Amino acid sequence: MTTRRRLGLAVVGFGWMGQAHSRSYLRLPTLFEDRAYDVDLIVCSDNVESRRHIAQSDFGFREVAEHWGAAVEHPDVDMVAICAPNMLHETLVTAAAEAGKHVFCEKPVGGTPSQTARAEQACRQAGIITGVGYNYRFAPLVLYAQELIANGELGQITNYRGRFFSMYGADPMGLLSWRFLIDQAGHGATTDILSHAVDLALMLNGPISRVVGIGETFIKERPLPSGAGTHYDRGRPGDQTGDVTNEDYFGALAVFANGSHGIFEASRAIVGPQSQMAFDIYGTEGALSWNHETLNELQLFRTSDPQQGYTTVRASERHPFHGAFVPGDANSIGFEDMVAIQDHELLTAVAEDRPHSAGMEQALACVSVQAAMLKSWETSAWEDVVSLRID
Ligand SMILES: NC(=O)c1ccc[n+]([C@@H]2O[C@H](COP(=O)([O-])OP(=O)(O)OC[C@H]3O[C@@H](n4cnc5c(N)ncnc54)[C@H](O)[C@@H]3O)[C@@H](O)[C@H]2O)c1
Repeated sequence: MTTRRRLGLAVVGFGWMGQAHSRSYLRLPTLFEDRAYDVDLIVCSDNVESRRHIAQSDFGFREVAEHWGAAVEHPDVDMVAICAPNMLHETLVTAAAEAGKHVFCEKPVGGTPSQTARAEQACRQAGIITGVGYNYRFAPLVLYAQELIANGELGQITNYRGRFFSMYGADPMGLLSWRFLIDQAGHGATTDILSHAVDLALMLNGPISRVVGIGETFIKERPLPSGAGTHYDRGRPGDQTGDVTNEDYFGALAVFANGSHGIFEASRAIVGPQSQMAFDIYGTEGALSWNHETLNELQLFRTSDPQQGYTTVRASERHPFHGAFVPGDANSIGFEDMVAIQDHELLTAVAEDRPHSAGMEQALACVSVQAAMLKSWETSAWEDVVSLRID
């Protein structure tokens, strides 16, 4: 058995993702017996009292705090997990890095590309280990797809299609939560869900050289929230409304450094696809398609076996990490299992004092593409992707 390092954790923001990561910290010991770390849930910060209460009474955090400063500066904390709304990310990441804590930050690390670039600089200068919430990277069949591509099984890549179509904002009665406001979320679909699609493309098919794109806001007003709602909550006819101030949709063409061509689309206000974070990748000798809605299946085509057409690969214990959750073949895993794999990989890197991917470096690469996309929307022209790294 590996010697385990005890890691004190703080979580800031105890909504959907703060609770998802905390649940994962609690169950990691039951999934990964051979691990390099043990975790202590030291402090949870949320500005909503009822959420602080759950953090302490149901999740077992030792302390709770209304202000995030108590979490970031706590002497027993080794890593801060930042799961608060986007516009708080830069401040929180910078404060944690300056306090010498390792950092996990939910994607997109800030609401704008320049905020991500400043957060990345602060982490680099502090020399800490970082993780960013690109959890779709850790689906066992996405990791298997990465292996197939890296081993040249698809030949030379010719085309890439990445999309994230979600219905979370398709109902005009969906509340005007922080996600729909530029001063709290930053950009809309581009920052929120397109970031996942671009990150996976960079991981699977390498750097993007240039892009051209366009955005749109379809639903311009939404009911105002009251209390601790999420972006899945609904208002009622007659509720007071407010203006949506960021985009529902973004679409782009892209050229990759390897010469392949790409198409990206993200919409939070589309009807039909419910959480379709998906990619299709085509090479001279094969093709792969994966969709988070059916995350335990990968479609694979090989020119060596053309009569077969596309075949379905079903996730099994033979694929990376899958067997930690369920043994055998075709026994399914789900969204929070990807989060657990991601958390396990980051905590292992922290315990072993080595870099983790996806961290701030990968977030910077992702927002450099996003910045070019947003610029192209403004100029209506192709734009080169230029690294936003601040030295
Ligand atoms: N990786 C993924 O798949 C995924 C999915 C959803 C959200 N996210 C990201 O996670 C982050 C949080 O999103 P969410 O859906 O969990 O949001 P949420 O609204 O459910 O939760 C945010 C929490 O932050 C708290 N908060 C707000 N201001 C605070 C402050 N000043 N100090 C402490 N806490 C504060 C809120 O009370 C709330 O509990 C966002 O950056 C989002 O982009 C990632």
